[in-house]
Amino acid sequence: MIYLDHAATSFPKPERVIRAVERCLREVAGSPGRGGHAGVLQANRLVFTARERAARLLGIGDAARVIFTSGATAAINVALRGTLRPGDHVLTTDMEHNAVARPLARLRRDGVEVGVVPHDPDAGRFAAALDAGRREGTRWLVVNHASNVNGQALDLEAIARWCEVSGVRLGVDAAQSAGLLPLDVDALGASWLACSGHKALHGPPGVGILAVGRGVQIEPLVRGGTGSHSESEEQPTELPEALEAGTPNTPGIAGLGEAIALVLEEGVSALHARAQALARQLESGLRAIDGVAVWGPGASERAVPVVSFTIVGEDPSLTATRLEDDWGMRLRVGLHCAPAAHRRLGTFPGGTLRASPGPTNAEVEIDGLIAAVTELAAEAR
Ligand SMILES: Cc1ncc(COP(=O)(O)O)c(C=O)c1O
Repeated sequence: MIYLDHAATSFPKPERVIRAVERCLREVAGSPGRGGHAGVLQANRLVFTARERAARLLGIGDAARVIFTSGATAAINVALRGTLRPGDHVLTTDMEHNAVARPLARLRRDGVEVGVVPHDPDAGRFAAALDAGRREGTRWLVVNHASNVNGQALDLEAIARWCEVSGVRLGVDAAQSAGLLPLDVDALGASWLACSGHKALHGPPGVGILAVGRGVQIEPLVRGGTGSHSESEEQPTELPEALEAGTPNTPGIAGLGEAIALVLEEGVSALHARAQALARQLESGLRAIDGVAVWGPGASERAVPVVSFTIVGEDPSLTATRLEDDWGMRLRVGLHCAPAAHRRLGTFPGGTLRASPGPTNAEVEIDGLIAAVTELAAEAR
């Protein structure tokens, strides 16, 4: 089996991540923040360590502003629902994942106004589009840092400068970039940034992060037990408790904490360089095949390793079935939960085949995919 679907979820998970999850399930006899016996203290330490590591990775000065969620989707929902009010105008891009697009569509029905600008890696063009889309009452810019359809990534530093000058607050969906591109929430002055734990951070599924900017207030979406201030019927206002009601996913957090330690040790830029070299190899190989259309980020330094393609005139799900049945290759097919991006690229509604290499893939696997697509494209001609 050749796994090329790391943008959906990374595989295989590192051995030490698996061991951390297992150790937590076997050995941690307590729930973090709930009481004070030895197992609780052990669980507290584990969650604290993971929070500190995440803060280091994401440039958050105070680890209390690291909120553990069930994934990027939950983090984005908490952030959008907890900050946007009727009458607010929010700018977003035309390459958003449904994790952003659907909550915004729902908020529109509550009176939030939404403007859409083209997702553009060129900082100057993007700023010009933001200037054109901005109006009185524009309070937020919510952007997909890196596209899960073609790997294209925005220049966050330039965007943060535009936000500061324009008095607009910034929210970032970093589901595809966390673990691959440098992120520094406090230096950016971003109000929030959402991460997946199970993609390029190499953690288990079911855990993610909402990084909250300095001084930012987010109204809780979920209220309940926090293990603190239990005498009050009000949700505590301090972070992280304010946004972490209910028993946390301690094994998931243990796995994510170990995964982030690994990312910090290996270094985001080394992990990115490895996977991105494979994506470049794939993109140029596919572009050389007659009858194959390719949507990749090209040579951009800032891109993430995601390449979409189709065999012209062939249903991509047929190609995906052949690649899996005849070559044992696992790729993602369809709209990848980002229909707007496909409208933009002209691949709606059929979608594309998406290959997303990870740092554990080998050049020979990429060569194998290029050879398989060459054969299938020749058959289709
Ligand atoms: C750009 C983008 N945003 C959000 C998500 C949702 O992430 P999660 O699975 O952690 O909820 C994904 C996952 O595919 C994604 O690619």
